[in-house]
Amino acid sequence: MKILAIETSCDETAVAVLECAGDDTAATFTVLGNALLSQIDIHKEYGGVFPTLAKRAHAENLTPLLGNALEEAGLLNKGTHTLTSEKQSAIKEILEREPGLGDAFLAFAAATERPAIDAIAVTHGPGLAPALWVGVNFAKALGAAWDIPLIPINHMEGHFLAGLGKNDGKVITIENAQLPILGLLISGGHTELDAMSDWLTYKNLGATRDDAVGEAFDKVARMMGLPYPGGPEISKLAERDRAENRENPFKLPRPMKDTDDFDFSFSGLKTSVLYQIRDKGELTDIEKEQMARAFEDAVTDVLWTKTLRAIDKTEAKTLVIGGGVSANHHIQKEFAEKIAEVHPDVELRIPAHALSTDNAVMIGIAGYYRASRKEFSTDFIADGNLSLA
Ligand code: KG4
Ligand code: ZN
Repeated sequence: MKILAIETSCDETAVAVLECAGDDTAATFTVLGNALLSQIDIHKEYGGVFPTLAKRAHAENLTPLLGNALEEAGLLNKGTHTLTSEKQSAIKEILEREPGLGDAFLAFAAATERPAIDAIAVTHGPGLAPALWVGVNFAKALGAAWDIPLIPINHMEGHFLAGLGKNDGKVITIENAQLPILGLLISGGHTELDAMSDWLTYKNLGATRDDAVGEAFDKVARMMGLPYPGGPEISKLAERDRAENRENPFKLPRPMKDTDDFDFSFSGLKTSVLYQIRDKGELTDIEKEQMARAFEDAVTDVLWTKTLRAIDKTEAKTLVIGGGVSANHHIQKEFAEKIAEVHPDVELRIPAHALSTDNAVMIGIAGYYRASRKEFSTDFIADGNLSLA
């Protein structure tokens, strides 16, 4: 089955084409085409994602990215696809609220034969509502132009499932994942623990009560004058400090580490960093490395402690870490070492780097499982607060 996948929930515009086969116990996903454009440069000067600019960039980029993904997949056939006037007006109505998208899309659809795609999967939440709507309306317009069924996908399910995959070049395989599976989803917008007891049935155990962990990385980076996104920058500095093995003058709190639940809080940690930077006036380069390390250590300590408690509660056999922050090397290393030490019975799965931060491949993966269940829909909406369980 060929799936076209679209992701616009935050600051990455992404379109992918996947050839999918198999079932819940073993499935393979071959990436035929993958086009992704990061808006990092646009948002850098704001130190975070600016929703109206994100929306505009998605609208400009979706049509060219679709062309690129289809071309890479060998599915872009120029021709004169005749759109009936009924279809044209339906598409115009769908794209009415997406300035900059309607004309480009109609021109593209009129010059392109219907590709051999079986279903279109699109992120409909959670995320920034204006950004999500662009992707949802684009998918609906495509569905209307080419008579292809649509599958609305939860972005967090994409992170969860992509994390279970083993990557071999362009082929991702998801197999032998023993249930129950515990998912630690850590990104710029979310920090949550979800358990999957039956395949694709999730139960939320806990989540952050304030900042997401990626957001905390980004804010702390900003306090230290580092560019957005801050996660990789902090991580680089922290690694330098570890290599030097210095004493650390900064002591940071571990908020909610020992509370008897599965929730998180990172805003107090962030504020503590802020006050300690203020006390110093300005940090030297070495102090920045030390602060980055103290922060990364505190985050990792809290994440691990809560995850361990959740493993024990759910009796998970598999632990998956997903979301942009799962790209963090220190978190990966600490979790691998600790699992081997205290829970060798639990298999740890972490996505390959390209699948950890936002992408459309993960939306296509979730789309395949949902398509297998015939979860097609025409009248879904974008929902910025959509939850997994
Ligand atoms: O999943 P994602 O791409 O977008 C959302 O759905 O939010 O996650 C982006 C977040 C950003 O906050 C970014 O700073 C963080 O992931 N991130 C990292 C690393 N790479 C990306 N955080 C820590 N260490 C990293 N290596
Ligand atoms: Zn994400």
